[in-house]
Amino acid sequence: MKHSFLRINTLSAVLLAMTAQVMAQEPTPPYLDNNHPIEVRVEDALSRMTLKEKIAIIHAQSKFSSPGCPRLGIPELWMSDGPHGVRMEFVWDNWDHADWTNDSCTAYPALTCLAATFNPELAFKYGNAIGQEARYREKDVILGPGVNIYRTPLSGRNFEYMGEDPYLSSRMVVPYVKGMQQNGVAACLKHFALNNQEKDRDKINVEVSDRALYEIYLPAFKAGVQEGGVWTVMGSYNKFRGQYCSHNDLLINQILKKDWGFDGVMMTDWGSAHDTDEAARNGLDLEMGSWTNGLTWGLSSAYDDYYLAQPFLKKIESGELPESLLDEKVRRVLRLTFRTSMNRNRPYGCKLTPEHAEIARKIAEEGIVLLKNENHFFPIEKGRYQKIAVIGENAVKQLSLGGGSSELKPQKEISPLEGMIEKYGKEHILFTLGYASGEPNYSNELPSGLDADSLVQEALKVAREADVVLFFGGLNKNFQQDCEGDDRRSMDLPFGQNELIEKIIQVNPNTGVILISGNAVSMPWLSQIDGLMQSWYLGSQAGTATANIICGEANPSGKLPFSIPVKLEDNSAHYFGAESYPGVNGTQYYKDDILVGYRWHDTKKIDPLFPFGYGLSYTTFQYGKARTDKKTYRADESVKISFTLKNTGDTPGAETVQVYMSQKKPSVLRPVKELKGFKKVFLQAGEEQVVEIEIPVRSFAFYDEQTADWKLENDSYSLHVASSSKAIQATAKIQVKN
Ligand code: BGC
Repeated sequence: MKHSFLRINTLSAVLLAMTAQVMAQEPTPPYLDNNHPIEVRVEDALSRMTLKEKIAIIHAQSKFSSPGCPRLGIPELWMSDGPHGVRMEFVWDNWDHADWTNDSCTAYPALTCLAATFNPELAFKYGNAIGQEARYREKDVILGPGVNIYRTPLSGRNFEYMGEDPYLSSRMVVPYVKGMQQNGVAACLKHFALNNQEKDRDKINVEVSDRALYEIYLPAFKAGVQEGGVWTVMGSYNKFRGQYCSHNDLLINQILKKDWGFDGVMMTDWGSAHDTDEAARNGLDLEMGSWTNGLTWGLSSAYDDYYLAQPFLKKIESGELPESLLDEKVRRVLRLTFRTSMNRNRPYGCKLTPEHAEIARKIAEEGIVLLKNENHFFPIEKGRYQKIAVIGENAVKQLSLGGGSSELKPQKEISPLEGMIEKYGKEHILFTLGYASGEPNYSNELPSGLDADSLVQEALKVAREADVVLFFGGLNKNFQQDCEGDDRRSMDLPFGQNELIEKIIQVNPNTGVILISGNAVSMPWLSQIDGLMQSWYLGSQAGTATANIICGEANPSGKLPFSIPVKLEDNSAHYFGAESYPGVNGTQYYKDDILVGYRWHDTKKIDPLFPFGYGLSYTTFQYGKARTDKKTYRADESVKISFTLKNTGDTPGAETVQVYMSQKKPSVLRPVKELKGFKKVFLQAGEEQVVEIEIPVRSFAFYDEQTADWKLENDSYSLHVASSSKAIQATAKIQVKN
């Protein structure tokens, strides 16, 4: 008894001593307390920082990080590209890969493929999956997604974007951002704005009308900000109306921050700042990757020389610039920090899980577009042929490498050849390269080292022996292909592929082509083949998805996110010559204005080879009549348009139904049609469904340059239910009356 009394007494003494110690400690400051609202934490942290600490937190300390505020325990922010997976690690202060052994990732299909799925649910899963991998790798910001508009098939980075239509990219970017950010990892919308070509991207000045700016080039950014709630935006390298976009008053201060209410961090692209005063005043919050000359190379460890570093500090100290400009930037960086690296509630993430592989495969399968299928060329069911020739470098080339900043180090990348062997058995596949390119290199075209003639001869020999030939070609991530920093030189297939395809068809007419690219290519051999697929940079599960589609275990349901013109001059940007693309004397005029992509082809009656929204299936669909819930609508209402859709074939499949709007008598030029809604509908063989799509009437408005606002005119409007931008299946007419 006495013994236990003593023990209790000792315990109380210890507890008392501990309590006294705790009471003597400082209370947790508000900025460290997760229970306080973020704005309270931001103001508290800001009030504790010295001028030098505030300057430090708004620019990089290494290639991919900013320093935080170590004295206050505010951690660094770590960033990584984006947008198709979490990039490998780099050394602190140059562009050498760090060669870690734990920095591999799942490579997801390129964003063109995601757009081709027309499936926003997959965009959410995509964003979430990368967010999980980023979180596991302790990244706070992923530098993506890219939502620049596909204006020309030559642009080196179209594969990183979501096609030519502002509505499609808006619908896909929102779930991507939400999926990612629910992991406490910021998405970064890039490249704001008008970075629609890579050629001369560091200096080109873009002149474009307000109407095209608001109707074509900004909607996906706006949706990402307002509906997606994105936490960071990256400025582009180019200029807009004479001012660099990364410190462009109109784009950032007026549109992004004032009109759209963006409360996150506006950061540079790597080396896109050029001027301290403009950077200070025009809304730039965080400077990354630059040197004093505005390029991504120069002296080593020059971080203190950044425009927003010592030069900014000096101007504040001398009174030339007010400290309030700095405080506003720091607030935003702190807000981002509390949302990400100091968010104690964020999940831990995971990487390379079977679910990640599944998502990558599913997106790849749903994105592949069947462009031509005559005489039942596809699917090639198992057992149909004894000898299948797989010819072409893209059947084996590792396409997650190269291309610039979107390069990835996938833990595995199943090539199309591996997928085909797995599916049909090694004994049924004959493989040869046919053509070859060199290793990907950012700024040079490297030779392959193989003899082109011998490759052709070998390919013809293999083609002769086979029952069917599948040619896997297209572009790759080499310099001046689908690669950052420059554009393609022409719309033609590179590395002698056109000639090779023609020769193969001569020796074996039973040939199909699988194009892997992020851009449209010209197809002089098209009429001579029965089977054609547009595939993409598909990432880790490329081979599995491709083989599943080819053999019919998966039914193609992808639709083109861009128009494929017959020839380059048929594309709107090129139609107007060098002033429109690539620019003359440092400036380009977007003379195509609002008529980009199918808007151009439709309105100017220039038939594309394959239209936007086009894609076949192994089954067929029948559309019923279109009905709307009313006949007359006010601006604040939505039209509910409905119709029946039936799978009339004997295979389950999905159809992306699209709704395009045409205005009857607009007071300004309007495109013949504009996409306003879509839905991907999965139907069993023989199944019929009533499909309903809801479209806000306000989305019929155009941007009126006279009033600098959106204008919805009282008029009659047609809503076309369509299976592509060229294939209207049913139409309903409505009136708008306010
Ligand atoms: C690219 C960005 C990328 C950054 C960091 C730049 O060259 O334009 O898209 O996020 O590098 O790698």
